Amino acid sequence: MPPVTPELEDLFSFLRFASISTDSAHAGEVRSCAEWLLKKLNGMGLEASLHETARHPIVVAKNQHVEGRRTVLIYGHYDVQPVDPLNLWNTSPFEPVIRDGRIWARGATDNKGQMMAHVLGVEKTLREKGELPVNLTFLFEGEEEIGSPNLAPFLIQNSELLKCDVVAVSDTGMVAPGVPTLGYGLRGIACCEVILRGPKGDLHSGLFGGAVANPATGIARLVASLHDVAGRVTVEGFYDQVRALEPWEREMWAKVPGVSDQDFLTVTGSPTLFGESGYSSAERTWARPTAEVNGIGSGYQGEGSKTVLPAEAFVKLSFRLVPDQDPKDILEKVRQHLELNCPPGLTLEFMPGHDGKPYAADPNSDLGKAAQRALKVAFNAEPVLIREGGSIPIVQAFRDLLGADTLLLGLALSDAQIHAPNENFPVENFEAGIRLNQALLEELAK
Ligand code: BES
Ligand code: ZN
Repeated sequence: MPPVTPELEDLFSFLRFASISTDSAHAGEVRSCAEWLLKKLNGMGLEASLHETARHPIVVAKNQHVEGRRTVLIYGHYDVQPVDPLNLWNTSPFEPVIRDGRIWARGATDNKGQMMAHVLGVEKTLREKGELPVNLTFLFEGEEEIGSPNLAPFLIQNSELLKCDVVAVSDTGMVAPGVPTLGYGLRGIACCEVILRGPKGDLHSGLFGGAVANPATGIARLVASLHDVAGRVTVEGFYDQVRALEPWEREMWAKVPGVSDQDFLTVTGSPTLFGESGYSSAERTWARPTAEVNGIGSGYQGEGSKTVLPAEAFVKLSFRLVPDQDPKDILEKVRQHLELNCPPGLTLEFMPGHDGKPYAADPNSDLGKAAQRALKVAFNAEPVLIREGGSIPIVQAFRDLLGADTLLLGLALSDAQIHAPNENFPVENFEAGIRLNQALLEELAK
């Protein structure tokens, strides 16, 4: 293991907290992580505060705000996704190590590594210059991975505290190592769960099969009804609000390295690509909406066979959305589609889940240009401009509730294994992130 710098020591301390937000057994670790962060920020000379919510705390920190300077809000999340399946990790998820130039741990990229780069960039500037060139507000939450249920209400209640001219977030992708990437869009999301019920209990499939409907067959038919054979979503009105891709975007994206159809094949290991015809993989994931099955279940799952006719079946669905689709409107259309297509002999229960709006901004606005210059300084290369397939639901809420656009300065590589075993973050991206923060505040001050 190469010598560990003070910056890496800080990141390692941060990564050692098992701050898994979805699992109530880890609530104490989430809180300890927030308290560690609070202490770190106060120790740097910022004024930091911890704010309780119905679940996990929010941490806010500011420098001295001065009239006439631009106010920059930097958002990040200190919570992480669960680690299972644990047996597929090469090293323990909450004992960070450096191997092959990368930091290996849950949260290394998403989002602790990217977030800490901003914190340490600010610390470095304060140490070198005694002051920052802008009014800075850090906003860190512990609930991003569960859909940020308490953050929008916090924005509404604290709009004065969080008032800003622009938001910066490093929680998105970088198309290839060394290629600085400015994101100017995110897909939205709408989640739901469906249960199909048939007989009052599990039945012998010989005694009753053929006489009553099977919920497992029903859920398969229902799921199959969501797409046509070419992969287009068949929910009535699903595409009504979809904004068409701009010709300049298609032209620009065709030249972006690391996101060709061949790259998608290599990264995913899929036998072939599949999706809406007439679009590249980058276009399909960045600018087109989808319907995905995230989980499905019914009947016997154990070894061998069991002749059962199960009483019920479930499916967990999520829809990725693009401007100008509205999550609530889409969920209503989906509910109607599912009820209309519920197979005979079964009853359907529809449960809406969390959602977030899609986001898109102009990458060549004055602020976008400043971000591009900062990326160029930090990486010594020309930045590429992309939209993202993933979602950060609070980003559109920043625009709606604080009136500020967000600059997405992503450092996550496509093989970072975020949400999966063996999550990792290159040490060079961590160091570039620190430089990026310094350059960004410099450029945004202009
Ligand atoms: N950091 C990711 C989102 C991301 C990753 C965007 C890479 C673009 C590129 C974020 O933490 C995340 O996973 N978000 C969830 C949101 C959901 C739980 C509401 C997602 O996209 O599934
Ligand atoms: Zn994530």
